[in-house]
Amino acid sequence: MKYFGLIGLFVAVAIVAPSSSTESRPLVPLVFEPLNLGQIKPLGWLHDQLMLQTSGLGGHLMDFWSFVSDSAWIGGRSEYSILHEAFPYWLNAIVPLAYGVGDERLKAQVRNATDYVLDHQQADGWLGYETGTNRNMWPRNLLCLALMQLAQADEAYTERIVSAMQRFAVLMNSMLADNFTGFIYHDGDMYPESATEWGLSRAQDLMVPLMWLFEYHPGNYSELILENMHYLYQAGVNWDYWFRADVFPKGELDELNQTFYNSLPWEYFHGVNEGEGLKATAVYRRFLHNDSLIELTHQGVNWTFFYHGSASGSILADESETCTAVEVMYSLSYLYQALGENWYADRAELAAFNALPGALTPDWWARQYMAEPNQPWSKNLTETPFSDVNTVGQMFTLEGNYPCCTVNHPQGYPKFLSASFVQFGVSGLAHALLGPANVTTRLSSGAAVNIIATTNYPFDLDLVYNVTATEPFYFAVRVPTWADATKSTIATLTGPDGHNNTVSVSPDVDTGMHTLSISSGTTMLRYSISTSLRLEPRPNATVAVYYGALLYGLAIPFTSSSTAPHDYVTQELLPAGYAPPASRDWTLLPTAPWNYAIDPATLVYHYDGSAAPGKVLPDPIWALGAPPNYVTVKACLIDWPLYLDSVPGRVPLRGARQCVGAVEEVELRPYGSTKLHVVDLPTVDLGTS
Ligand SMILES: *[C@@H]1O[C@H](CO)[C@@H](O)[C@H](O)[C@H]1NC(C)=O
Ligand SMILES: *[C@@H]1O[C@H](CO)[C@@H](O)[C@H](O)[C@H]1NC(C)=O
Ligand SMILES: *[C@@H]1O[C@H](CO)[C@@H](O)[C@H](O)[C@H]1NC(C)=O
Ligand SMILES: *[C@@H]1O[C@H](CO)[C@@H](O)[C@H](O)[C@H]1NC(C)=O
Ligand SMILES: *[C@@H]1O[C@H](CO)[C@@H](O)[C@H](O)[C@H]1NC(C)=O
Ligand SMILES: *[C@@H]1O[C@H](CO)[C@@H](O)[C@H](O)[C@H]1NC(C)=O
Ligand SMILES: *[C@@H]1O[C@H](CO)[C@@H](O)[C@H](O)[C@H]1NC(C)=O
Ligand SMILES: *[C@@H]1O[C@H](CO)[C@@H](O)[C@H](O)[C@H]1NC(C)=O
Ligand SMILES: *[C@@H]1O[C@H](CO)[C@@H](O)[C@H](O)[C@H]1NC(C)=O
Ligand SMILES: *[C@@H]1O[C@H](CO)[C@@H](O)[C@H](O)[C@H]1NC(C)=O
Ligand SMILES: *[C@@H]1O[C@H](CO)[C@@H](O)[C@H](O)[C@H]1NC(C)=O
Repeated sequence: MKYFGLIGLFVAVAIVAPSSSTESRPLVPLVFEPLNLGQIKPLGWLHDQLMLQTSGLGGHLMDFWSFVSDSAWIGGRSEYSILHEAFPYWLNAIVPLAYGVGDERLKAQVRNATDYVLDHQQADGWLGYETGTNRNMWPRNLLCLALMQLAQADEAYTERIVSAMQRFAVLMNSMLADNFTGFIYHDGDMYPESATEWGLSRAQDLMVPLMWLFEYHPGNYSELILENMHYLYQAGVNWDYWFRADVFPKGELDELNQTFYNSLPWEYFHGVNEGEGLKATAVYRRFLHNDSLIELTHQGVNWTFFYHGSASGSILADESETCTAVEVMYSLSYLYQALGENWYADRAELAAFNALPGALTPDWWARQYMAEPNQPWSKNLTETPFSDVNTVGQMFTLEGNYPCCTVNHPQGYPKFLSASFVQFGVSGLAHALLGPANVTTRLSSGAAVNIIATTNYPFDLDLVYNVTATEPFYFAVRVPTWADATKSTIATLTGPDGHNNTVSVSPDVDTGMHTLSISSGTTMLRYSISTSLRLEPRPNATVAVYYGALLYGLAIPFTSSSTAPHDYVTQELLPAGYAPPASRDWTLLPTAPWNYAIDPATLVYHYDGSAAPGKVLPDPIWALGAPPNYVTVKACLIDWPLYLDSVPGRVPLRGARQCVGAVEEVELRPYGSTKLHVVDLPTVDLGTS
């Protein structure tokens, strides 16, 4: 075998940072262009996770869950709300899942359902079954996102979808021109005003597929499609207002000036809206050409996480839903593509490797509605300590509390996968969100490239790349901001007898990308990231513990019991046989205490190397004890009262933390593997170091 490797040197190339020059193109270009869906296949643990999802709840919704299988969108009669959103949520998640893993059963379901929707497009271009004053635009955001992905992944659908979306864009234009019909509420509409508020605050998720249509398949409608974006912005509940310094709520939500905040649209306070809205100002910038929005986006996203973020990477809001976590992931991966700021990619990984798996059972058959950072039990609570969440919201169930997370959670990993490799310039391919994957693509330069990333990242920080290219190109790897760049290396291994050219990474300061020039032929690289344990301060002298992209929480062992799933409205058992046997509602009860304070001076990271590239991890990996990594720390029990006799209350202030037990060593485990956990850990000085 012949190896043409080369030169593991840093090369300065055109990853274009957002410029402040006036743009002549109608849409400001993205820094990184996503690849068409289907070009990236999952490997290793990520493949295992997507297969669990395929054979778990997400992959079986069309088989039994009436809000999807009997949706009015495909000729049935079931909707869980007047928003008619279950089916579009399903399609938006199952398209990238089916084409990400290449699952024929799910592809057939996607095609069959899409055929129905396209065949039933109404004569005037409306997509969906509503007529007259019953037409609310909102869930078509999700439908268009789904159709955009399917058009990329399945050539048999491209033309039909493009034509359907163009006809819909024409109708949308006439509706929006007619005093925003279907977007803002009008007297006489068949749905209440509250039904339009979702579309008003989530308009960026309709703009994204419109931009795709504009850039790749505008037909004769370029101006009209662009005009639609301006209309949506003109009448929307927009996020540039919320991100302003004189508006954004800095501080705890229940301690704010209520007079002022009651005067703002409520949409801004809803967690899922916030997750979706993170990307909004970067989306607007593409057609507004206002570069102040770059800084405003940074400010808004930072403040969202700084003041209201969970340590696991999601947002704590009225409902810190599982939906919020997946929307946060999608928004942050979009922000990295649009603005190229490394920190957005770090935060996308944080939510993907912590918040999302923490909210799912290891087998992907049950999901929480709401996750608690400090959650010592998961059961039907006796009180409702949370805003807008009932007593079963923090259980792992089929549809407990509200069904949206049942149908929205499956978009998380499939979209993470499809954002993991991106293009830059005409001949650049970059590993943006790290993890095991296999990408096959043709760059604008014409180079056909295949890259196999063999790694168990984030459980191990080494990545081995086998690269094959028909022409020279630039390959870039992202260096996370938490990495110690001086000790992180990339080695070009040109085969058994070739030289091993090892250099320290020298990432671009904005994007975090370390770029290499790669010859045609076959090249093998080894990228080794170095880091150390780090602490992040959390409220009231608590800390969160991280190593790399993983958050480590106090792992609380538990016993579990389950019942058949319950109806989310009546809370009665669903009829026998309705759901597959694997679908259960779970109660998890702790078998050890949870109320510890830790001495951070005694933290030690443990990892035996058993997740090195090529090693096979346990499947399912997000189960207690499955990941090989853990942290030990000296700790003692403290007096930590409950709130409403129901959930952990305010952490006792530092002066009031007396040990009520002996000093012990406790284990912190990757958050995603701990279904019961304490992650905002109170600190004490145990004088042991
Ligand atoms: C295809 O979709 C139609 C309409 O929703 C449905 O009646 C039929 O059962 C579906 N067939 C398959 C094989 O999924
Ligand atoms: C547009 O719709 C709004 C909301 O229903 C209404 O208040 C306003 O009068 C309408 N404007 C026109 C020009 O019809
Ligand atoms: C664009 O307009 C031209 C001239 O009116 C017409 O021939 C063509 O079919 C149109 N194309 C599309 C995609 O609508
Ligand atoms: C609270 O906000 C209201 C309305 O913006 C304002 O009039 C009032 O002065 C504020 N109160 C305080 C204490 O800041
Ligand atoms: C650009 O955006 C900033 C931030 O939202 C805003 O203050 C400014 O008015 C905008 N400029 C224009 C010309 O719209
Ligand atoms: C985020 O905002 C906080 C509070 O304003 C500030 O201290 C911090 O430096 C900001 N971080 C980033 C990355 O901008
Ligand atoms: C990578 O993907 C290509 C194209 O789908 C496939 O031919 C190849 O077998 C895959 N390799 C691995 C190691 O999965
Ligand atoms: C990568 O290339 C090396 C050297 O040819 C080979 O030993 C290894 O099996 C390849 N790995 C994959 C996943 O193809
Ligand atoms: C490459 O060489 C360096 C320096 O000798 C060594 O530390 C490193 O382990 C080698 N890397 C590989 C992947 O063989
Ligand atoms: C939760 O408890 C409430 C009140 O005790 C009860 O009405 C409800 O049925 C229970 N829900 C489930 C899903 O067990
Ligand atoms: C921190 O402690 C103070 C005083 O007990 C309390 O008012 C505040 O709400 C606490 N914050 C959090 C996030 O627990």
